[in-house]
Amino acid sequence: MEKEEWIVVKGSCSIRPMKGAVKINCMSLRSQIHIPNGMVGLIEALEPSELEVSINEHSFLEKRKEAVPKEWFSAMDEIKDAEKIMVIGALDSGKSTFILFSSNYLIENNVRVAIVDADVGQSDIGPPTLISVGIPSSQVLFLSDIPPLSSYFVGDTSPRGNLLPMVVGTKKMVDKAFEHGAKIVLINTTGMVFGGPALALKLFKLEAVSPDIVVGIGEEVKRLIDLFSSTTRVIHLPKPRGMLIKNRLQRISRRKTLFSKAFKKLNHTTVDIRDVKLIGDLQIVEALSNPSIFKAFVDIKKIEYLLVGLHNRRLELLDIGLLLGVDPDNYQLKLLANTNVVDQTRIIKLGRLRVMPDGTELGRVNPQSVFSINKASLPQP
Ligand SMILES: Nc1ncnc2c1ncn2[C@@H]1O[C@H](COP(=O)(O)OP(=O)(O)O)[C@@H](O)[C@H]1O
Ligand SMILES: [Mg+2]
Repeated sequence: MEKEEWIVVKGSCSIRPMKGAVKINCMSLRSQIHIPNGMVGLIEALEPSELEVSINEHSFLEKRKEAVPKEWFSAMDEIKDAEKIMVIGALDSGKSTFILFSSNYLIENNVRVAIVDADVGQSDIGPPTLISVGIPSSQVLFLSDIPPLSSYFVGDTSPRGNLLPMVVGTKKMVDKAFEHGAKIVLINTTGMVFGGPALALKLFKLEAVSPDIVVGIGEEVKRLIDLFSSTTRVIHLPKPRGMLIKNRLQRISRRKTLFSKAFKKLNHTTVDIRDVKLIGDLQIVEALSNPSIFKAFVDIKKIEYLLVGLHNRRLELLDIGLLLGVDPDNYQLKLLANTNVVDQTRIIKLGRLRVMPDGTELGRVNPQSVFSINKASLPQP
C-alpha cells in the first residue's frame, strides 16, 4: 500500500502487517487479526506498507483513494474538547463506524471515552432491545468487542411506542458513563429520523442529555441538524462512499446471533408473582398477576417468549429473560432467566417483542390478542 491509500475488506479474512504502519478502523494494527464473516475493516496506510491478507470466497477486498471522508477526521479532532457527543443519522449512514473511529482516535489521545449505544435495533454493545454503556480499556477493532458496563431495558428493537424508555434510558446510561470516570461520552442513536415521533424522540433526548455537539451524518438528517443548530453546536458530515451495507435479512440474522448469545445463560425458573412488581402494558400486567383472570381469559401462546427485564429494587437491570407462562394456582411466573439474578429480582419490566430462545423474533405482542375466553375454565352451567 502507498502512503494514505486505503483498503476496504469484508470478512471473513485474516490480515497480518508485514512492513510499514497501518491502521484498521482507526486502530493501530500491530499483529495478525481476524475479520469475521460480514464485518468490515477500513485499512489506512500511514506510510508505504505491506500486508498479508488471507481471503476466502465470502471475502471482499478493494483499494480506495479515500474510504472515510476527510471531514470525519476534522470532526474527530473537534469533539476532543467536548464532553457529550450525540451522533444521529439514518440506517446505514455510518453512525457506528464514526463512533468506532472516534473512540479509537480518542483512546490514542489518552482520553477515557465511553460509548452509550442507544441503537436498540442494531446494537453494537450488548444485546438488541437494551441501551448499553461501555468503556473500552484500549482500542478495539469493532464496537462489539466492548463489554457492556450497564444496560437499560427497552424491550423492543424499535423506538416506536417506546419513546419514554428511550429518553430515560439514554440519559441514565450517560450518567453512568460519567460515574465510571468517562471524560467523553459518544452516544449512538437509532436510525429513526423521519416523521413526528422521530423528531420528538431526538428533541427530547437532546433536552434530557444536553450534548455539547450533535454530529449528523448524511443528507437525511440535514433538516434535523439545522433545527438543532439554534440550541446546540452541530457538525454535519457526509456518508462514506461505497459503503458495504447489510440487507434486512442480514440485519435480522445478526440480531438472532446476538439474542441467542444473550440467552445462552438462561434456564427454566419461577418467580412468585406476589414477590415482584410487574411494569408494562396494563392489560398484560393484570392478566399475569390475577390468577382467576389468567385462567379464564388468557391465551398464553400470545405472550409466550415475551422479552422481560429483571431488575433489583433500585430499578437496575440485572439481566434479560423470556416469559414462558404462568402457574395460576401457585402464583408462579414461569421464566427462562439467569438463575443467579432471580433472588435479587424485585421488578420485572415487560417488553413488547417476543423472541424464541434461539434468537428467532416472533414479532410484537398485541395486548388485545392476549385475551381470549378459555371456555374450559369457565364455570360450567
Ligand atoms: N467507508 C466504508 N466503506 C465500506 N463500508 C463501510 C464504510 N463505512 C461503513 N461501512 C459499512 O457500512 C455499513 C453501515 O455502516 P454503520 O456504521 O454500521 O452505519 P449505521 O451505524 O449508521 O447503521 C456497515 O456494515 C459498515 O461496516
Ligand atoms: Mg449502527
